Amino acid sequence: MNRQITLAARPEGFPKDSDFALVESERPSAAPGEVLVHSQWLSLDPYMRGRMSEARSYAKPTQVGEPMTGQAVGEVVESNDPRFAPGDTVVGQLGWQDYAVARGGTLRKVDPALAPPQTALHVLGATGLTAYFGLYDVGQPKPGDTVVVSAASGAVGQIVGQLAKIAGCRTVVGLAGTPEKVADLKELYGYDVGIDYKQDDLNARLKEACPNGVDVYFDNVGGAISETVFRRLALGARVPICGQISQYNLAEPELAPRNLGFLVVFRARLEGFLIYDFAHRFPEGLQRLGGWLADGKLRYREDVTEGLENAPAAFMGMLRGENRGKTLVKLR
Ligand SMILES: NC(=O)c1ccc[n+]([C@@H]2O[C@H](COP(=O)([O-])OP(=O)(O)OC[C@H]3O[C@@H](n4cnc5c(N)ncnc54)[C@H](OP(=O)(O)O)[C@@H]3O)[C@@H](O)[C@H]2O)c1
Repeated sequence: MNRQITLAARPEGFPKDSDFALVESERPSAAPGEVLVHSQWLSLDPYMRGRMSEARSYAKPTQVGEPMTGQAVGEVVESNDPRFAPGDTVVGQLGWQDYAVARGGTLRKVDPALAPPQTALHVLGATGLTAYFGLYDVGQPKPGDTVVVSAASGAVGQIVGQLAKIAGCRTVVGLAGTPEKVADLKELYGYDVGIDYKQDDLNARLKEACPNGVDVYFDNVGGAISETVFRRLALGARVPICGQISQYNLAEPELAPRNLGFLVVFRARLEGFLIYDFAHRFPEGLQRLGGWLADGKLRYREDVTEGLENAPAAFMGMLRGENRGKTLVKLR
């Protein structure tokens, strides 16, 4: 049998338990050109909140009754594609379920001898690549720069801070929402300064930490936090807009940031990006991230929940900020 978590209803505002359903169905089998995968690790990511909604976006929404969308790592159990054999470990868009069939061309082989296989869902996968291209290509950090990162202890943010240090940035400042996460910023991820944006005076702390202004603001959250950072930009600042998680669960988006005039004052450039824009360069990104990981230059923390049935609670917890590191579900 196969177990799936499906979208039971479109959430209004913050998702709730009844928006998800656990259903059982026949185990699928692979048609010509397809591969059947038994998943081991499921990635939970903020973008999934967007797929639950019908609002205009860059990808089609999940339909009610369909399995929730998501990347997973698992083992090939049947293959009708000559590139894959039973026993191979692969990563792909396999959904919130135990078994999935996928076209061979949508899967990537993972070498479990190089790193734990679930790293293909974060540092050696989508969130690591997001940090790599978002910071280096969009943010264009220079040696000596001051960099600020929001949601800095999360899956993307933990890598951005370390990449900024690798690029020779002088002051790297992370914003996070609990004292434990702020401790991780300095102790695990090499941030120079960690700021608890819920408890500290964010503007005062940024002024103190960034006396010459912020050259690169890597924005994962938007809203009031970004409004405060915009006041502290440096001349010619670059602002990669990676995500706007502060807005994802609001029935109506906020009006903030209201101070875009600072972009004129500082001649700053805001640029939204999607990781898929860089798909043709993923091999380069994975090779460099893999090299730094092997050299001990990249560290990460995982936040693991056991069992597919607990995925909805883990997902909602991540949206509330309860995850300390990359949110994963261990399926078996
Ligand atoms: N552009 C792309 O291609 C791309 C790819 C991947 C991810 N993203 C985006 O990158 C961002 C981070 O994703 P991730 O996977 O690394 O997630 P994550 O940071 O591991 O988890 C989400 C974190 O967001 C923070 N958060 C939640 N609500 C917030 C609010 N109202 N205000 C401020 N912070 C809030 C929480 O941390 P705190 O406790 O610190 O608040 C929470 O732990 C998201 O916006 C996501 O959509 C974009």
